[in-house]
Amino acid sequence: MTAATVPGTDHAPTTNQGVVTWVQEIAELAGPDRVVWCDGSEGEWTRLTDYLVEAGTIKRLNPEKKPNSFYAASDAGDVARVEERTFICSETERGAGPTNNWVAPAEMKATMTDLYRGSMRGRTMYVVPFCMGPTDADDPMLGVEITDSEYVVISMKIMTRMGSDVVPLLDAAGDRWVKALHSIGAPLEPGQADVPWPHNENKYISHFPETREIWSYGSGYGGNALLGKKCYALRIASAIAHDEGWLAEHMLILKLISPEEKAYYVAAAFPSACGKTNLAMLQPTIPGWRAETVGDDIAWMRFGKDGRLYAVNPEFGFFGVAPGTNWKTNPNAMRTIEQGNSLFTNVALTDDGDVWWEGLEGDPQHLTDWKGRDWTPESGEPAAHPNSRYTTPISQCPVVAPEWDDPNGVPISAILFGGRRKTTVPLVTEARDWKHGTFMGATMSSEKTAAAAGTVGEVRRDPMAMLPFIGYNVGDYFAHWVDVGKSADAEKLPKIFYVNWFRRGDDGRMLWPGFGENSRVLKWCIERMEGKAAAAETPIGFVPTSDQMDLDGLDADADDVAAALTVDVDEWRQEIPLIEEWFAKIGEDNLPSSIRDEFEALKQRLGA
Ligand code: GTP
Ligand code: MN
Ligand code: MN
Repeated sequence: MTAATVPGTDHAPTTNQGVVTWVQEIAELAGPDRVVWCDGSEGEWTRLTDYLVEAGTIKRLNPEKKPNSFYAASDAGDVARVEERTFICSETERGAGPTNNWVAPAEMKATMTDLYRGSMRGRTMYVVPFCMGPTDADDPMLGVEITDSEYVVISMKIMTRMGSDVVPLLDAAGDRWVKALHSIGAPLEPGQADVPWPHNENKYISHFPETREIWSYGSGYGGNALLGKKCYALRIASAIAHDEGWLAEHMLILKLISPEEKAYYVAAAFPSACGKTNLAMLQPTIPGWRAETVGDDIAWMRFGKDGRLYAVNPEFGFFGVAPGTNWKTNPNAMRTIEQGNSLFTNVALTDDGDVWWEGLEGDPQHLTDWKGRDWTPESGEPAAHPNSRYTTPISQCPVVAPEWDDPNGVPISAILFGGRRKTTVPLVTEARDWKHGTFMGATMSSEKTAAAAGTVGEVRRDPMAMLPFIGYNVGDYFAHWVDVGKSADAEKLPKIFYVNWFRRGDDGRMLWPGFGENSRVLKWCIERMEGKAAAAETPIGFVPTSDQMDLDGLDADADDVAAALTVDVDEWRQEIPLIEEWFAKIGEDNLPSSIRDEFEALKQRLGA
């Protein structure tokens, strides 16, 4: 099929010739039945959701429970990001570093061009112009996603600024926009019936950092298919940020307001399914403190004219983990989705057309589980997939900060790193300085969760919660962090803290109640920055004792809290060979000497 015969190809709303030519090329290669340029309108939403309901991909939820909301169940083989199939195709192998899968760009493009050939046959090819971050930014971060998935288009409408509003920006963008190509890889032959969740067993999530391109094939799910999110806003943006001197990070952005009405902005990096969305919508339990949300997953941080680091949330929606979300753990997420206009994927369906997941209130006696089967409490299997998600607009969040859409971002006072560790890592530790904080981030670890395919529970190093998202060599990434610190006025840099909400006692019980109570930890961090709170100096940094934190009215065992705050030198000594192993994996010639120096100093302080 030639481009001229693909209806719709010539209906380009943009004057950007680069976009038009690329769309023509892909239409010619992938051979869809038609091309549709997406405008992001309500009419388009209605057309696509109606179509998907008809196709059996989504179900309309009971409008009295969740207005204008939908339920999707993916195929059981397409439920999470696929790190094994994710590639950084930099010009050199070193450019991708030892932590990414690498294939030379020409080779990957040859392989994937073959896969894309005819891959959209029998389907519609959608062209989605989108912008990551506010559209009124000085330098709006644009992209165009080509996809043959309607589910992707409606998800992009929730998660990004997309459609007609972006077109004038694209017209003026020249070649400063990211090509994001996506196909589910499931062509339909004439007369062939479609399945509810078409995808392909053969998956590739490929990134070309030098040419700012993303090629994704075979998956229709979340981070594999909504290419503005992990692929652009983290992997490609981290490479851009490295070149331009800023930071693209896997961080929530939270605004805390003290009883004196002073606002503090905090960014926090925790690995997937380790509490970012929960902390981002925190409901403080300490009297007089309030919190507002700026972002729940990604922060782009650039220096402002005043020398402070300002963060922007590039996203427009939340793609939150459903299980565990409830009126107690995250009431603000519940209020956000309750307003509707949301998409739920791989949760369970109630008999009255609402959604349910493990941890949600209610005691359902019958459900349809995420695999479409009847479910009862006796079923012995969770009704919702552990990585099931809600997709919902940020603007609906009742505690969204008024400045969430400000193109200048918000000035960050503190950066938290954190993981999920049963042992060793105390509830909170303050870094000595930026370089020490960079070392903490570079060596942070977490037990693996269901957000990516693999063995749940296994401890792995996850530097800055970016292991699956760094778009270049991990050693260069650490060096970049160190350089960012060097280039700034130390007084104006955010203070760095390392937190762990997940430490457990010998019998496996949680030592810290977490969620809203985490506000006590944040209060201590802020008081440290204000010079008001005390801490004990330990070999790993500054750690409070129980009496140095506000624990008034906390419903927790005092011994448990003390245990959560303990620095156990023996446990830390056991950490040393694991960090050594991690640095060996990175390679000494990749590792910046200042990070190695921090490690040697830690060993000395531990007497190890
Ligand atoms: P991604 O969106 O995948 O990047 O993950 P996330 O970091 O946003 O994770 P999220 O906030 O959705 O947390 C997921 C899991 O962490 C859920 O099972 C929560 O119940 C649990 N969780 C979050 N905060 C806390 C906490 O303070 N304490 C405990 N014990 N669990 C928590
Ligand atoms: Mn994430
Ligand atoms: Mn999240």
